[in-house]
Amino acid sequence: MYSSKLIGLGHHVPDTVITNQYLSNIIDTSNEWIIERTGINERRWIDPKVDTVGNMGAKAARMALERAGLTEKDVEFIVFASITSDYYFPGSGVIMQRELGLGGIGALEVKNACSGFIYALSTADQFIKTGMYKTVLVVGAEIQSTALDLTTRGRNTAVIFGDGAGAAVLQRSDKPGILSTHLHADGTFAEELYVRDPGSSRPHAERQPEQILDTTGFKVVMNGNLVFKHAIVRFMEVINEALTKNNLTKEDINLLVPHQANLRISQYVQEKLGLADSRVFNNIMRYGNTTAASIPIAMSEAWAEGRIKENDLLCLAAFGSGFTWASALIRW
Ligand code: UT7
Repeated sequence: MYSSKLIGLGHHVPDTVITNQYLSNIIDTSNEWIIERTGINERRWIDPKVDTVGNMGAKAARMALERAGLTEKDVEFIVFASITSDYYFPGSGVIMQRELGLGGIGALEVKNACSGFIYALSTADQFIKTGMYKTVLVVGAEIQSTALDLTTRGRNTAVIFGDGAGAAVLQRSDKPGILSTHLHADGTFAEELYVRDPGSSRPHAERQPEQILDTTGFKVVMNGNLVFKHAIVRFMEVINEALTKNNLTKEDINLLVPHQANLRISQYVQEKLGLADSRVFNNIMRYGNTTAASIPIAMSEAWAEGRIKENDLLCLAAFGSGFTWASALIRW
């Protein structure tokens, strides 16, 4: 059986920097609260005249392809993770495909929120292992800013989410690459972190209101405390599952790239695993939580900073809406 190697990483974030101070001028929050509870200093928000999920994905993809020494024409298939596609449907994988001039190749949409990139990576890995494709583009891209509830009611989500895109090029190899991926979900908690509308199982008049009087259903709703408590348990579980499956231990991890949900979550996981700072990569300080884009943006930056080297063991882990959680162990 073939193995899949990550041969190029890229990312793109919008130009507009939103500071904690800016947010505290429009909602009831403070720089101190945000830093203490989340570790976030600033995040990027899109300019709707400039950025789309599809074109940010394309920019990240171009960087990943260039770093891989490939061009668009080498890509055979796209797996695109996003819960904030430019249109309700189709997903933005096809928009990115159009931007890249790749009309004709398949584009699969993955809607698994913060775990989306690892689900997408796992899917691409299966296509490569079976021999169906040789080169697959895996992208995570999100625009969360336009769905945020910018009132005191929504302040626990308004301060954490940001926009951006990250991409990875996966290629067939006869050397070890992705060692294993571990995907989980528990729909019991679907409504603990979700956007309700425009849901299909809503009465006709609510799915297609002539006039929207109450926009609550279109905004991100999160039971932050409950999500946090589940996150720290599932992060540890799914990392240990991956290590056990590969007969490896936490000492073998060269770099852990956790989904950037909250710095306190990453620090909890780091402490439990006993990893030195040099073996964990966080960039939530600069970008907030960019959902499916967070892991590939972080990997792309870690690679550019020289933090990922040949033969390193990379561990990815995520938890989020669904609930879903996932991990991947990768030999670089
Ligand atoms: O990425 C996918 C999954 N998402 C996550 O993993 C996020 C997990 N959850 C979290 O990161 C945290 O729960 C939050 C950062 C969202 C919230 O932090 P917390 O320490 O869990 O705060 P809390 O929700 O328990 O709220 C504590 C207090 C409340 O006030 P009272 O009731 O104690 O008076 C909140 O109303 O903090 C208040 N609060 C805020 N105050 C200032 C909540 N959000 C804010 C805010 N600014 N932005």
